[in-house]
Amino acid sequence: MAKVITLGFLGCGNIGGGVYHLLTDMHGEILKRENIDIRIKSALVKSIAEARSDVPKDIMTEHADEVLKDPDIDIICEFMGGEQPAASFMQQALENGKTVVTANKMALALNWHRLQAAAVGHHAGLYYEASVGGVIPVIRSLTVSLNADEIDQVMGIVNGTTNYILTQMSQQGRSYTDVLAEAQQLGLAEPNPTADVEGYDAAYKLSILSSIAFHTRVTYAKIHREGITGITPDDIAYGREMGYTLKLLAIGKRSGNSIEVRVHPTFLPNEHPLARVDGSLNAIYIHGKYCQDMMLQGRGAGDKPTASAICGDILYAACHMDTPTVPSFDNTAETDPAISFTDNWNCRYFVRLDAADTPGVLGSVASAFSARSISIASLLQRPSKEKGRAQIILITHEANEQAVQETISSLNAELVDVKSMIRVEC
Ligand code: HSE
Repeated sequence: MAKVITLGFLGCGNIGGGVYHLLTDMHGEILKRENIDIRIKSALVKSIAEARSDVPKDIMTEHADEVLKDPDIDIICEFMGGEQPAASFMQQALENGKTVVTANKMALALNWHRLQAAAVGHHAGLYYEASVGGVIPVIRSLTVSLNADEIDQVMGIVNGTTNYILTQMSQQGRSYTDVLAEAQQLGLAEPNPTADVEGYDAAYKLSILSSIAFHTRVTYAKIHREGITGITPDDIAYGREMGYTLKLLAIGKRSGNSIEVRVHPTFLPNEHPLARVDGSLNAIYIHGKYCQDMMLQGRGAGDKPTASAICGDILYAACHMDTPTVPSFDNTAETDPAISFTDNWNCRYFVRLDAADTPGVLGSVASAFSARSISIASLLQRPSKEKGRAQIILITHEANEQAVQETISSLNAELVDVKSMIRVEC
């Protein structure tokens, strides 16, 4: 006899609809493959009358307790988004002994220790494959396949909206505001794009990804975050001329007990595998002591790819109801005091200056860098639009963040206007 597993949804918009359709479409096949009969009993919505999803209205409810407290429901699938009330609903569900599946990176990143404690304390499962990289199976790759390895680097394009914008800017030489407006019209960017373009979305994802990769809690507060709103077509074009492609990267590195976690626009050499990931695609590059380098790529958003990852979790949970799994690291509210988090990392730097085109200016710029032992790897000079000025673009060898910041501040503002400083990874 087939095992019956009953689901309740919290939220039923695009993603909930995608999950409903996948499970309906694949019901017979899942029954055949795993002998599990998955049934969807109820879906919490704000207003049944205003619900836009084509999920049958007779399973919809406006009362959270009808989902959270229903003794028939085994697995709660959370599709509400945002931190609250999603996090407290998930916690209640876990405390009621129900397994939770979510794609909500914000609620998870900010409340993970509480949710995991509730899951462990009530012998329930907590699964979130779709929270990072959409359909890309990066959580399971790290927690299962690479669990015996020592990962020292995760570097990802984990936000499709910004990757789409940067790709369009790069391919068409258009401005950020122009491409953003078009992306919003096409429905590819949110009407309020802040979470994506300022790097918040990527930072929540990096908090989850680096905690799992490095087997220690990396709280959201530890992540250095910068978005793409200040990027100009000039930066992208000069970078390209020097052999680099610009991406918004979520970077986590561990060396011994020191961790750096940062989200910011980053130039990558054109031959780097992440440099070729264009449009709204996501990809995560991983380096470890034994696995060495590898990359996973796929769709980071969209109802069908996200539903595929969520339903994979649902099926995994259904197959492991008696033996729910959580990552083995100590999932604490604060980071482990034995680990130091540095914001003074080393990498290479792209610096673009608009300078007076007079004798000695280039020399003074070079001296300022050499005074802090920063070596310049390549340099480009181009005429500025303004007469008597020149664009100086340089890329340093590996240098220290603080030293580069100090060098930039030390430049004579009357002669040199610092247009941009963008980190470069290899
Ligand atoms: N807004 C995200 C993105 C998708 O643009 O990638 C959901 O995390």
